[in-house]
Order: sequence, then C-alpha cells, then structure tokens
Amino acid sequence: MTSTAHTMNGGPPGPAAQTPAARADRISKVYGRGDARVVALDEVSVSLDRGRFTAVMGPSGSGKSTLMHCMAGLDSVDSGEVYVGDIEVTGLDDKRLTRLRRDRIGFVFQAFNLVPTLTALENITLPLDIAGRKADQAWLDTVIDTIGLRERLKHRPSELSGGQQQRVACARAMASRPEIIFADEPTGNLDSRSGAEVLSFLRNSVREMGQTVVMVTHDPVAAAYADLVIFLADGRLVDQIPDPTAEKVLERMKGFELPGVTP
Ligand SMILES: Nc1ncnc2c1ncn2[C@@H]1O[C@H](COP(=O)(O)OP(=O)(O)O)[C@@H](O)[C@H]1O
Ligand SMILES: [Mg+2]
Repeated sequence: MTSTAHTMNGGPPGPAAQTPAARADRISKVYGRGDARVVALDEVSVSLDRGRFTAVMGPSGSGKSTLMHCMAGLDSVDSGEVYVGDIEVTGLDDKRLTRLRRDRIGFVFQAFNLVPTLTALENITLPLDIAGRKADQAWLDTVIDTIGLRERLKHRPSELSGGQQQRVACARAMASRPEIIFADEPTGNLDSRSGAEVLSFLRNSVREMGQTVVMVTHDPVAAAYADLVIFLADGRLVDQIPDPTAEKVLERMKGFELPGVTP
C-alpha cells in the first residue's frame, strides 16, 4: 500500500486554495426588448485572482456596472455562470443569495451611503450588527488602522471629509472579511487628493491584508493603482494590461475614442 503527501495531509488542498475569488463564465445580459433591446454583456468570461486588485475600464455604457452587479449577485444573468469562490452564484435562490452577499461580498459605491446618525465606527460594524455577528476584533483593528481613521471613529459622517467618508464605506465593506470587494467608481465623487486616499487604502488592503478588490473607474490614474486593468467595450472583454501605469492605460483608452481607425 502506498501513501502520498495528499492522503497524509487529509486530501488535496481545498478549493479555496486554488479557485479564483470570483469568476464569470460566458455571461450574457440583455436589457429591454424590441427597439429598446440592449446587450449589456455579451458572453463575458473573466477570472478574478485572490489577493489582487483589478480595475475595470471602458467607455460609458460598455457594461462595467452590469458586470459588477452580475458577479456580485445583485443582478441576474441571462446565460452563463458566475462563481464567488467555489459557490455558483447563478444557481442560488433568493435566501442563499442574500446570505452570500452578506457574508462573502463587500460593496463600495460612488455614493458613500453612510447612515448619518451613526458614528464612523457604528457605520463600519452596521452590517455585522444587522447580521447578528460579532466582529473579529483583530481584523477590525487591522482594517481601522489601514484606513487611518482611528481618531475619527466617534465622528458622524457630516463631520468627515468626502475621502474620509468613503474610507469608512470601504472599511464597512471589509469588516466581515469578504471574499471579494466590488467597488463601482468609488472615487467618482471625490477630488483627486481624497480619491488618492481611498485608492491607497484599497491597494493597501490588497497588499497588506490579502483582500481581493475589483474596481470600476474612468480614471487612468486610479486604474494605475491596480495590479491588472481589464477593458470592456460593447459588453465584451477586449483587452487587459497587467502592471498598469496611467500612461499605458491612457494610451489604450485613446483606441476607444477613435473607432474605425485601423493600422
Ligand atoms: N436597468 C437597465 N435597464 C435597461 N438598460 C440598462 C440597464 N442597466 C444598464 N443598461 C444598459 O446596458 C448597457 C451597459 O450599462 P452599464 O453596465 O451601466 O455600463 P457602464 O457601467 O459601463 O457605463 C448600457 O447601454 C445601459 O444603457
Ligand atoms: Mg457604470
């Protein structure tokens, strides 16, 4: 009888060690019908690696938000499959979907959506409180130190700058230690300095805390914070740039503005 490292260790490594944080397999999404029919996503396949910061770019209307919403289980697909970790999102009923979003996914939107009557700390722990879960204090401390707002935790949103409010919203998304964070234009309402604060935080959460972040942005400078930029056009994935710089991203974007130009 032979024994292998696998069996001695109780079997092969679990799926969490191998699977991407999230994955879309040929997903399509159509809105409306007849004259109003829009193919928002046209057989898009994408795999989002763990511990990576991915930016999603493309012209307005190219399907960026739809892709995020479908991958996060906020919207349904017409065909194809979406996985978060080893869970098939596209196969879940409403109850399981709600639980998946609550336990495994973090969201950050352009609008901060903080509760004005709660302090920064209360906002950060609100989703956990609603779920009746106890925060992992060590993790929460790490998140709070990374957002750099320990002195402001008792402040209400109106007493914080836009950048600080969005950092609180990011911390709220991270408090439950989600498998993946989806951020749709998180710096869209911020001046460039506040935007840089939020982007640094998102990048640090990936580098130092091993978070997985996907962010839609219009801004080449914002995209340059990511490890990988993927480009959508007309509901299709058309290009990607690893280790992006703002210059490389800008250069690629010029291609979108000159349709029909061929070398
Ligand atoms: N709820 C909706 N109903 C109808 N059409 C929609 C809806 N959401 C998005 N669309 C259309 O789908 C396409 C992709 O939209 P969206 O994903 O929001 O693009 P982006 O985020 O890249 O600007 C656009 O043509 C948009 O008008
Ligand atoms: Mg959008």
